[in-house]
Amino acid sequence: MFNGQKVSFSGIQPSGNLTIGNYLGALKNFSSYSEQYKCFYCVVDSHAITVRQVPAELRRRTYETLALYMAAGLDPEKNTLYVQSHVHEHAELAWILNCFTMFGELSRMTQFKDKSAKHADNINAGLFTYPVLMASDILLYQTDVVPVGVDQKQHVELCRDIAERVNQIYPDMFTIPEPIISTTGRKIMSLADPMKKMSKSDENTNAVVYILDDKDTIIRKFKRAVTDSDMEIRYAEGKDGINNLINIYACFTGKSNEEIEREFAGKGYGDFKMAVGEVCADALAPVQARFNEILDDKTALEVQMKKGAEEASYVARRTLSKLQKKLGFVQVR
Ligand code: TYM
Repeated sequence: MFNGQKVSFSGIQPSGNLTIGNYLGALKNFSSYSEQYKCFYCVVDSHAITVRQVPAELRRRTYETLALYMAAGLDPEKNTLYVQSHVHEHAELAWILNCFTMFGELSRMTQFKDKSAKHADNINAGLFTYPVLMASDILLYQTDVVPVGVDQKQHVELCRDIAERVNQIYPDMFTIPEPIISTTGRKIMSLADPMKKMSKSDENTNAVVYILDDKDTIIRKFKRAVTDSDMEIRYAEGKDGINNLINIYACFTGKSNEEIEREFAGKGYGDFKMAVGEVCADALAPVQARFNEILDDKTALEVQMKKGAEEASYVARRTLSKLQKKLGFVQVR
C-alpha cells in the first residue's frame, strides 16, 4: 500500500529492442493500473548486465525503453517511471535478500538454466542471483500486483517465498505480491519457431516483431511466419503457429478465438497473416509516433528519469531502513 492505494510494480530489461511479446505480455497492460494503483515501472539496467552489453547500446536502449513506457500511455505525472541503477536501494536490499534465499531455490529457476546454457562462457553470480534482485525491485515498494508475461511467473513466486520467509522472522515486513498474467498476451511465440518464446535477444530478426518495426517490415515478417500444412484458421492443439497468430490478433483487436475463427472461416492462411500484420502495424503506429516525439527531447527524458528516481528512492529508502532496523543494523543520522 502507498498512501492508501494498492501498488503495481514491473520492469523491462533494456537488453534488446523491445518486441510485441514485451508489449502484449507486459507494457500494454501497465497503464490499466494507473488509475486505481500507485504504479512504479522501472527500466532494469542492472538486470541487463547479467549478460554482456555494449555500453553505448545499453545507454541508448535505457532512454528508448523509458520513452516507450511513456509512448505506451504511461503518464509520468501519474506513474513513477525510472531507471533501476538510479535507486541504489535496489542493490542494497538485494544483498540482504540474498541472505534469505537458498542456493537450491535459485538452482531451480528455468531462466537461469536457459541463460547459462546460452551463455556458457559467462555463467556469472549475477545471472544466478538475478531473481533476488528482481525480488528486491518488487518488495521495496510493498507491491500488491506485478503485471508480467508467464515466463516471469516463477520469479514472482520465488519473490513471494522470500517475502514470506522474511515475514516469518520479522512480521509484517513485506506485502506479498501477486503476479498478474494476461490471458492472450501471456506468451507470444517466435514467428520462426512457434514452440519458442518470442525474445528480444533472438538472433533471427525475422522471428521477432519489434515494437518499432515499420508497417512493411511487420507485414513481411507475419507473411513469413511458420504455420502448418492444414488450411483452417482454428485454435487447436498442435497448430502452434496459427494459435500464436490468433493470440496476437486477439490481443490487438480484443476479439475472442471464436469470433476470429468465424471472421476467417473459408479464408486462407495468406489472408489471415496479412490481417494480423495490418492490425499489429496499425496498433503500433501511434505508439511509434509518440515514441519519436518523446525521444527527440533527451533533456526532458532526463528530467523525467531524475524525478522518477527521486519519487522511487523516497519509498525505497523507507522500506530498506525498516528492514535494516529489524535486522539490527545500527542507524546513525
Ligand atoms: P524482460 O525484459 O525479459 O521482459 C519484460 C516483460 O515482457 C514479458 N515478455 C513476454 N510476454 C509475453 N510473450 C513474450 N514472448 C514475452 N517476452 C517477454 C516478460 O514476461 C516481462 O513481463 N526479469 C524481468 C524484468 C524484471 C521485472 C522485475 C519484472 C526485473 N525486475 C520486477 C517484474 C518485476 C525480465 O527479464 O523481463
